[in-house]
Amino acid sequence: MQSLQEQIKAHEEEIKSFNPASAAELEAYRIKYLGTKGIVKEIFGGMKHVPVEQKKEAGQLLNAFKQLAEGQYEAFKHLQDGDGKKDAGLDITLPGKPLPLGTRHPLRMVENQIVSIFEKIGFSVATGPEIEDDWHNFTSLNMPEHHPARDMQDTFYVSQNPDWVLRTHTSSVQARIMEQGNLPIRVICPGRVYRNETISARAHCFFHQCEGLYIDKNVSFADLKQTLYYFVTEMFGADTKVRFRPSYFPFTEPSAEMDISCTVCGGKGCSLCKHTGWVEILGCGMVHPNMLRNFNIDPEVYTGFAFGMGVERITQIKYQVNDLRLYSQNDVRFLKQFQSI
Ligand code: DAH
Repeated sequence: MQSLQEQIKAHEEEIKSFNPASAAELEAYRIKYLGTKGIVKEIFGGMKHVPVEQKKEAGQLLNAFKQLAEGQYEAFKHLQDGDGKKDAGLDITLPGKPLPLGTRHPLRMVENQIVSIFEKIGFSVATGPEIEDDWHNFTSLNMPEHHPARDMQDTFYVSQNPDWVLRTHTSSVQARIMEQGNLPIRVICPGRVYRNETISARAHCFFHQCEGLYIDKNVSFADLKQTLYYFVTEMFGADTKVRFRPSYFPFTEPSAEMDISCTVCGGKGCSLCKHTGWVEILGCGMVHPNMLRNFNIDPEVYTGFAFGMGVERITQIKYQVNDLRLYSQNDVRFLKQFQSI
C-alpha cells in the first residue's frame, strides 16, 4: 500500500504538468502511461501484493490515478486532428477538400440559349407573375368568359379568389407588356406555367414556355417567318427546314403552328417525328386586332407578331429526352449528363 502511494506520487507531478506541443509528444505520453506496458498498467500490477483488507482503498487510489492519466490524454487529443496548438499535425500545403459543384438544370440551359438567340436581334427579356388574374391570362387575350378556347387549357384556379389562376401560358406577359404602353415592343418572356394535367411521360402539371412579342409599325407575317427561321437555324443548325401550318389561337389572326425538319433523322422518318419527317415546335401568329384594342393600341397603325414555345419540347428535341418527369425528379445521374453543354 505504502509503495503504491509512493509510486503514484512519483508520477503525479509529471502528469499534472503535462502540456504537449505536438501529436508526437502526446503519443509518447500515451505509450508511457496508458500503453499495454505503460506505467498505469504496471502500478495496477502491484495490487496483487496488497493485503485483502486494504484492497478497497488501494483500488480507489489506483482508479483515481488512472483517471488522471487518461484525463490529461483526452484533454490534448485534439492535437491529433491537427486543429490544435502550434503546428501540430496541420499541413497547410495539402490541397483543400473538393466541393462538388452542381450543374445548371437542362431546362435553364435551353431557356438561356433561346433567350440569347433572341437578344442578339434586339429582343429584351420580360417576366410576369405566376399567379395571374383572369384579365391577363384570358380575357385581354381575346378569350372572354365562356369562350370555348379556354377549354384548350386545363386551368388551376385559386380557391380563395376565383379571379386568380396559375397562369396557363406566358402569353399573360404579352398582356402586361402591352398594358405598359411603351411602343414599339420587342420582348422575349420565359417562365413557368401550370396546367391541370395527370402527370405522365408526355404531360406534367407545370412546364416552361418562352413567349415572343413584336409590335411596331409595318410588322408583317414575313417578319414573323424570318425571325423564327433565324431562331431555328441558330438553335438546331443551318440545315434545319421550317414549315408553317394554319392553326387557331384566340389572340392571333392568322395563326400558325411551326414545324421543323426532324433533327434526329433529318426528315427520313423516325420515332421522334413519328415517321413524318417533321416535329412541331411552336405556335405563332399576327397579334389579333382585338387584343391590340384591349390595350389602346391602334390596329390601323400598329401590327405585331407573337409566338410561344415549350422549353421542355425544345430540350426534348435537342437532347432526345423522352420523359418529362425526368426534369423534376432531381436525379443527378440525369442532370449530370448536361454538364458539358
Ligand atoms: N399560348 C399558347 C399556348 O400556351 C402558345 C402560343 C401560341 C403563344 C401562339 C403565342 C402565339 O404567343 O402567338 O398554347
